[in-house]
Amino acid sequence: MTSEVSDRLGLKFILFGVFCLFVGTLQGFLQSTPRLRHWIHSTGQAGHLVDPLAHAHINLIGGVVSIVMAMVYYLLPRMLGRNIWSHWLGQANFILMVAGVGSFYVVLLCFGILEGNRMLDEGIVYPVARAHYQPYHRFGFVFSALLMGLAHWTFVLNVFVTYFRKEETSIVPSVKPLKEGSKFQ
Ligand code: HEM
Ligand code: HEM
Repeated sequence: MTSEVSDRLGLKFILFGVFCLFVGTLQGFLQSTPRLRHWIHSTGQAGHLVDPLAHAHINLIGGVVSIVMAMVYYLLPRMLGRNIWSHWLGQANFILMVAGVGSFYVVLLCFGILEGNRMLDEGIVYPVARAHYQPYHRFGFVFSALLMGLAHWTFVLNVFVTYFRKEETSIVPSVKPLKEGSKFQ
């Protein structure tokens, strides 16, 4: 992909990262209030899904890792003097990141709240509360974790191939060579 395209991809990651930091810090503030701290402490492993798991990953992966990825997409072409290897992998990286972080957050938050409230309402332990939401809990957790994993691995692959590939492609826009004997009309 040309450096303008990887700059635009970087910008999308910055906007997504900043949005995630907004959501994550909003949750951080809310979970600092006494009522929610009490709910989190009373619901054990269900509360653990909401804080720290949902909170940590939306802030760290959605926010920090996305902004790190944006920096790499911006800096690497300039540091190496060549374009990022694959436009397709870059776009896949972004879509998988949005889908993975978004779904991981929603899954952890929804099942954490549903299972925690069920524990308190029915006076049951966590495994019994979680059993009500199987196989959806397990499927949602594993599937969204896989999407986040794929988002990271497409990024890693694109960066490594960009660095290690043999051919040198200039970041100067390429000009198609004229065929021998061809004329301008
Ligand atoms: C307004 C901003 C924020 C507030 C009010 C806030 C609040 C909190 C609270 C109340 C906890 C739970 C602590 C506990 O259970 O003892 C927590 C945990 C955590 N927060 Fe935040 N947070 C904020 C922003 C962030 C950001 C920006 C990041 C990362 C970039 C972050 C990463 C974490 C992590 C990793 C944990 C888990 C720590 C552990 O495992 O003990 N937080 N936060
Ligand atoms: C595919 C990517 C990832 C997945 C699926 C994932 C999933 C998980 C899981 C299942 C836990 C253990 C929760 C528990 O039972 O306590 C965890 C903990 C944690 N992860 Fe990740 N993680 C990923 C990447 C990352 C990255 C890139 C960071 C940081 C930049 C991170 C930060 C943390 C932190 C701080 C904790 C500890 C939270 C706590 O219990 O205090 N994770 N993660």
